[in-house]
Formats: sequence, C-alpha cells, structure tokens
Amino acid sequence: MSRPELWIGTSFKMTKTRVQAVAYARRLLAEVGAGVPGVTAFVIPPATALAEVSAVLGAGPVLTGVQNAHWEDEGAWTGELSVPQAADAGARIVEIGHSERRAHFGETDATVRRKVRAALRHGLTPLVCCGESAEVLARGGSVDHVLGQVESALGGLPSGPGGLEEVLVAYEPIWAIGEHGREPRPEEVAAVHGALAAEWGDRVRAVLYGGSVTTGNAADLLRVPGVGGLFVGRSAWEIEGYLDLLATGRRHADATG
Ligand code: PGA
Repeated sequence: MSRPELWIGTSFKMTKTRVQAVAYARRLLAEVGAGVPGVTAFVIPPATALAEVSAVLGAGPVLTGVQNAHWEDEGAWTGELSVPQAADAGARIVEIGHSERRAHFGETDATVRRKVRAALRHGLTPLVCCGESAEVLARGGSVDHVLGQVESALGGLPSGPGGLEEVLVAYEPIWAIGEHGREPRPEEVAAVHGALAAEWGDRVRAVLYGGSVTTGNAADLLRVPGVGGLFVGRSAWEIEGYLDLLATGRRHADATG
C-alpha cells in the first residue's frame, strides 16, 4: 500500500498586499505548478488576495484556503465571511480555530465545532488547529488538552467522504508559534502526535504539525511518527522558504514511499 500524501502549506496571516501575494503565487505556479510528487501544497493568503491567488493557481494541484469563515452561510454578520463566499473566491480549505483567533477574536471550541460543519456542508476541507499553552505543557497536560479540543471539534461527525475523511488537523502548540515561540523538540511533538494518531489517525485525512517550522527542522519533524505534513507561517512567507520546505517534503515522500 502506498503511503498517504503529505500536506505542506502556509498561511500568510495578516501579511502581503494583493500584488505581493499574486507574485508569490505566480512563482509557485512556475516552480511547482504541475504538483510536488507525494505532497499536497496549499497556500492560505489574506482574504483580500484569495480570489486572485486562486485564479493564478487555477484548478491545479496547489490548493488555496481561507484563514477563517463563519458558521452561517449569509446574513447580518458584519466583518465576517462565509464558507460559500470563500468557496466563490476559490478556497478549497477552511482554516479553523488557530490559536491567534482563539486568543484574540473569541474563537471557542463551540464556534470551531460549528465552523467545521459549515465547511463540510459545502464540500470544503476543514483544517482544524489545536494546541496547548506553555502552562499546560509545563504541567504535563498537553495530550489531554489537545485530545479534548479535537473531540470537541470533530466528535459525532460521520466517518468517510463528506465527514471525517475530509478533515485535516494541525497540532500547533501555542508555545511554539510565532516570533516569541520556541522550536519544539521532536519528542514533544511525538507525544501529542502519537496520541492524535491513536485516536484520530485512521479517521481523518491527515494530522499536520505547525509552530516554528523552519527549513532546518522540517525533515526531522516529518520523521516524527504521526506527522502527516507541516503547516507553516514565517518560514514560508518568502517563496524560497516555501519551495525549500516542499522539496524537503518531496525527499521525505521519496524516501518513505
Ligand atoms: P510560525 O507560525 O511558523 O510562524 O511559527 C505557525 C502557525 O501559526 O501556523
């Protein structure tokens, strides 16, 4: 049996103008427009650039996504955008529950759960982010915390197509994310990914790791059992960084395929 595909993607968070995002997408198309063997690449630009980036990448193998979407399809929800609107702009992936949204914008396990169902209702792939704080890590509660978040997000979903089979999970420990984060040790990642793999590994599409991924640690992180891909911020915001990470993914897929 062949190994499942690896997923390697980036969110631009609140960076890049439309011109910058389109230039990035054009370079990506030129370099890997035909796809990366063994790897599914995806880019999640700011919403302002989603339609243009999606148009550049077209119906090709590199997917685009949206960083957040509401659980309702339309209505009086000022400042929000819906899954159908994201799909209309080309998104195939809906990122849900990133810790920055949980910390600053009132995202809760309950809203994450509703958004997962909204994405699935419209045939998009939910990318559900989970991860514990430094305090939870320090008291040894990482596994329980993360399993609780994922159970809350995914519990009760049907298995198979249109259900769990479409879902991506990203383990993103808060203490590892962003410029104040620290690189995780492989054994820290292994502890949580082992538990996620045991509980969800056979049922969801893939479980990714994110948080201080770099071109230097990506190969080691991909070797951690249960890690089915990488979800990357800063290290992929320059196209060379992302291309390097995709090449690392390809080498990993070649070596293990
Ligand atoms: P980082 O962000 O790679 O810049 O640490 C990761 C994330 O928030 O997904």
